[in-house]
Amino acid sequence: MGNQNGWFFTCLFCALSVQSVVYSSFNPVDSFLLSCGESKSIELDDGRVFEPAIGNSKVGLSSNSHIVVVSNTELGVSNIYTSAQISTGNTVYTFSTRQIGRHWLRLHFYPVENSQYNLKSAVFSVVANGITLLHGFSFSKLRRNNPLLKEYVVEVGGSRSRKLVLTLSPWNGSIAFINGIEVVSVPSGIFTSSVVPIPSASAFEIPTHVAFETVYRVNMGGPVLTPKNDTLWRIWESDQPFLVNAVSARNVSVDPGSIKYPAGESVDIGPNWVYATAQEMADANVNDQKFNISWVFHVEQGFTYFVRMHFCDIVSIALDTLVFNVYINNQSALESFDISSKTMALSAAYFIDFVVNVSMGSYQILVQVGPPNLRNSQPNAILNGLEIMKLSNPSDSLDGKFAANPFDSGPPKREKHVMLIIFSCLGSFALLALISAAILLYFCHPKKTKQRRPPAWLPLPTHIGNTETKVSTGSYASTTPSLNLGRILPFSEILEATNNFDESLVIGVGGFGKVYKGMLENGVVVAVKRGNPSSHQGLVEFKTEIEMLSKLRHRHLVSLIGYCEELNEMILVYEFMAGGPLRKHLYGSDLPPLTWKQRLEICIGAAKGLHYLHTGAADSIIHRDVKTTNILVDEYLNAKVADFGLSKLGPTLDQTHVSTAVKGSFGYLDPDYFRRQQLTEKSDVYSFGVVLMEVLCARPAINPALPREQVNVAEWAMHWQRQGKLGQILDPHLVGFVNVNSLRKFGETAEKCLAEYGNERPAMGDVLWNLEYALQLQEASIETVEDENSANCIPVPHVMPVDGYGVDIVSDHESDATSTGVFSQLMNPKGR
Ligand SMILES: *[C@@H]1O[C@H](CO)[C@@H](O)[C@H](O)[C@H]1NC(C)=O
Ligand SMILES: *[C@@H]1O[C@H](CO)[C@@H](O)[C@H](O)[C@H]1NC(C)=O
Ligand SMILES: *[C@@H]1O[C@H](CO)[C@@H](O)[C@H](O)[C@H]1NC(C)=O
Ligand SMILES: *[C@@H]1O[C@H](CO)[C@@H](O)[C@H](O)[C@H]1NC(C)=O
Ligand SMILES: *[C@@H]1O[C@H](CO)[C@@H](O)[C@H](O)[C@H]1NC(C)=O
Ligand SMILES: *[C@@H]1O[C@H](CO)[C@@H](O)[C@H](O)[C@H]1NC(C)=O
Repeated sequence: MGNQNGWFFTCLFCALSVQSVVYSSFNPVDSFLLSCGESKSIELDDGRVFEPAIGNSKVGLSSNSHIVVVSNTELGVSNIYTSAQISTGNTVYTFSTRQIGRHWLRLHFYPVENSQYNLKSAVFSVVANGITLLHGFSFSKLRRNNPLLKEYVVEVGGSRSRKLVLTLSPWNGSIAFINGIEVVSVPSGIFTSSVVPIPSASAFEIPTHVAFETVYRVNMGGPVLTPKNDTLWRIWESDQPFLVNAVSARNVSVDPGSIKYPAGESVDIGPNWVYATAQEMADANVNDQKFNISWVFHVEQGFTYFVRMHFCDIVSIALDTLVFNVYINNQSALESFDISSKTMALSAAYFIDFVVNVSMGSYQILVQVGPPNLRNSQPNAILNGLEIMKLSNPSDSLDGKFAANPFDSGPPKREKHVMLIIFSCLGSFALLALISAAILLYFCHPKKTKQRRPPAWLPLPTHIGNTETKVSTGSYASTTPSLNLGRILPFSEILEATNNFDESLVIGVGGFGKVYKGMLENGVVVAVKRGNPSSHQGLVEFKTEIEMLSKLRHRHLVSLIGYCEELNEMILVYEFMAGGPLRKHLYGSDLPPLTWKQRLEICIGAAKGLHYLHTGAADSIIHRDVKTTNILVDEYLNAKVADFGLSKLGPTLDQTHVSTAVKGSFGYLDPDYFRRQQLTEKSDVYSFGVVLMEVLCARPAINPALPREQVNVAEWAMHWQRQGKLGQILDPHLVGFVNVNSLRKFGETAEKCLAEYGNERPAMGDVLWNLEYALQLQEASIETVEDENSANCIPVPHVMPVDGYGVDIVSDHESDATSTGVFSQLMNPKGR
């Protein structure tokens, strides 16, 4: 079995300082703590009391042979490792739980010295609720003599009702033994967060019948944390043994008391001690420093692993200054990741879950963080904590390929493992069925607002790491292209994905052609834009767009997944944005009204995307068609700018474009551009100002049905803004919920964007900063006011009657048509 070395961990004999305080916020529904070889209760130094297993009324214990207890009290202290329970036959523990769902199962093993039995040579298997945890396990193979703590997560429920059945089965003529058992319910929601597969595909949730085994739990840049330092009695080991090149990393730490847990995130995710320390790039902030910090973890091949990363920006002095990439096994996991975009604060805890397949012949998980390529700011990257858990395989085993056991009746349940579904090739029938099901689901639930994920799980131990594999941290050439880059898709796959361009899947129509919703073979839901083949003119734009898009990667830009130019087709495949255009969330649909905070966050996201377009790439790019239908949101209301599908036009083409008709959408058009026919980034800023006003008032940019002075939202809003009375035309849904200062900041920002001349308008970076400030003002007011009167908020009375409010009388039909459209002419300002 050779796998014990890598993923077994030493259990710490914690110092017996009994006076230490346990801070535990976690009060489990079920908690069985058994010391199997003892006849009386034992209190551990972390405050937990383990009761004897034999004669325990709460636990069913049966065996088809004698159960013997051995103990060795030479140490003078009794703890769960000084005694063990032994049997020559199968021993079955039955725990009747009150809670259905996932439970932690922790098994303690130590081969107690004994004259009659040789526990070290015992060979046995352990099965819990049909999942093989250990198969032919023996301490003799471990070549070490420390107590062993194995931690699992196993489902209780389903056909087994509310029972966790644990079976120990000795192999031929051998014995089985165990020292201690913990069965503790996992607080609800702790594992329900969705996981992102690597290589990246759509996120999903791990089904509850899949069992976990904790393999590593690491505190980056910090000390070992014992159960006393963790509300869930986990052990976090130091990352030093796993660092590939120790000089590449430098530990940083802050006062743990300064760590914030954003609303909805529990302290149980990880102790503040984990978030208060990190490894950052050694010599970070030296310009042009480009390398990854790498950690290598040895794991058993042929399994799927759950990888939870803990981040907390304790190194930056301002938001959005730390942006880095994260790789797992040389594959991109997070690109241009900005912790503060998730937490909206520094020193705030954040975690994210991945699953990665460790194929046969590979024995490691390589985790790397490093600076992105497209950055001119100072490179740095951090990681605060990491947990790696093995997932049970389709044979329901966590130890080799062995399907359950002879004692747990019933054939091994196959086909129930989600990874199998995700990763295996499906017959085309199944695929079609899946596509239809997915589409149905998406159409029926266009917007599933899931708030922050609940916390993590549990406890666990230390590990013996051996890091003999050295990977140079210098800049080794990247042979693996980033997975996000557009790839060539065969036409057949596109046909399949869109059900032969099924008209019912059309989600938008634009000048370029139609946009379909589809699902690729790998399960990724996409928006497929099919160019009109008769348009020769489109070809140049198509080609240059692909070329340019490969250089533009940003979490606030809708990204290109692939393209197809077979058979004269011009097809671009983009990531699908489940929430659709921002406009739909503002008016003209029955979607619930967005809160002020959500609106601010969406504007901030879009501003980040535009800021990146303007400054992130080597050549600045002008969007030219910023409007609420070109800002798309995903199911979590993260905003991305679409239709940035640009053309890097040559100078001559560029010239013609500039001198021909002014492009853009009615109502969003920069008057300065109109006058001077000169395009700059500031034209986008103007359009963005219109978007801000539209967001504030929840009405179309142009509404010809309104009285003349109200037709244009920018003019109408500026009329009130100049008098400092913007609150008068606020979306009625927001009245009473918007902090005055936040609104003032927002109004001033929009006003500056709408300045008459381009050079009077701020850059997108300033707009972004001001919006973030407006968000902070709003959040601060929510925190401080809460139950008091909403003195800080816009008073309810004096709402101006706004005729036609919410009624979608629109003139710019064209904008609806291109809702998911992703083409627009972006121009290279250098050519102007
Ligand atoms: C048990 O012993 C029999 C006969 O010696 C052998 O065939 C079988 O493989 C053994 N089983 C295990 C699990 O070692
Ligand atoms: C942090 O780095 C210093 C200097 O390299 C080292 O002495 C110390 O042990 C490190 N601390 C931890 C917790 O790794
Ligand atoms: C862990 O807990 C112990 C005992 O409560 C305390 O002395 C120690 O400072 C803590 N260490 C860390 C890193 O939390
Ligand atoms: C995942 O691992 C399984 C088992 O080794 C393998 O059959 C499958 O092809 C892998 N899938 C991916 C996407 O690597
Ligand atoms: C990652 O890349 C490095 C260097 O190219 C290579 O040595 C290593 O085997 C790769 N690891 C995996 C898991 O692919
Ligand atoms: C970091 O690692 C990834 C994946 O192994 C690689 O593609 C990338 O080039 C590395 N970055 C640097 C700066 O070495």
